[in-house]
Amino acid sequence: WGGGDYNITWHSGLTRQERSELRKQKGCTVWFTGLSASGKSTIAIALEQHLLQKGLACYRLDGDNVRFGLNKDLGFSPKDREENIRRIAEVAKLFADSTTIALTSFISPYKADRELARALHADTKNTDSPLPFIEVFVDIPVEEAEKRDPKGLYKKARAGEIKEFTGISAPYEAPEGAEVHIHSEKTSVEEAVVMITQYLEGQGLLT
Ligand code: PPS
Repeated sequence: WGGGDYNITWHSGLTRQERSELRKQKGCTVWFTGLSASGKSTIAIALEQHLLQKGLACYRLDGDNVRFGLNKDLGFSPKDREENIRRIAEVAKLFADSTTIALTSFISPYKADRELARALHADTKNTDSPLPFIEVFVDIPVEEAEKRDPKGLYKKARAGEIKEFTGISAPYEAPEGAEVHIHSEKTSVEEAVVMITQYLEGQGLLT
């Protein structure tokens, strides 16, 4: 197809199926969502280590890190968060299409933005098949996250020093249909890794 005003054309090369057979791995995106200090990055890091130890290609995109580079022009307004998530979803999709397991660890507080990320993975316009998208809800009551407060951000938000802070002065829309639901205050990091790994195995994504 043509690219509208810019005369760009999509180039097809190897199919994902071909890449997958050559690399002996399927790609997917594991999308973590949860409040700041919920434990999503800690679990994502442990999962990344576990999958790499099993010999699987896996790469983690993380909130703070991506905001230092690719998304350094974005803040925390609803519009900026939407653009943050859209770009991350596109990048994760590229990793997944390369047959890597992409792990994303962002608050992603808005349901519509997470749904867009899911829809991008389901879109088959330029690819042979939809990409699996696994939403992992790292669920924690805001009072508990505030007690943990490892970066002192909740304290600053309460003092009015950080505007639009998720859970305090900006919304977090909890997912209803996440593929994996982790109750962070009752689940150890190791147990969370087992829960996600079992889900991925059940979907045939770790072979
Ligand atoms: S979002 O909502 O998905 O676009 O946010 P994300 O890219 O994951 O970035 C969250 C990290 O940014 C820090 N931070 C804030 N979080 C929420 N609200 C406000 N206003 C804010 N300002 C800075 C905070 O360290 C988040 O990191 P985590 O790892 O989630 O604690």
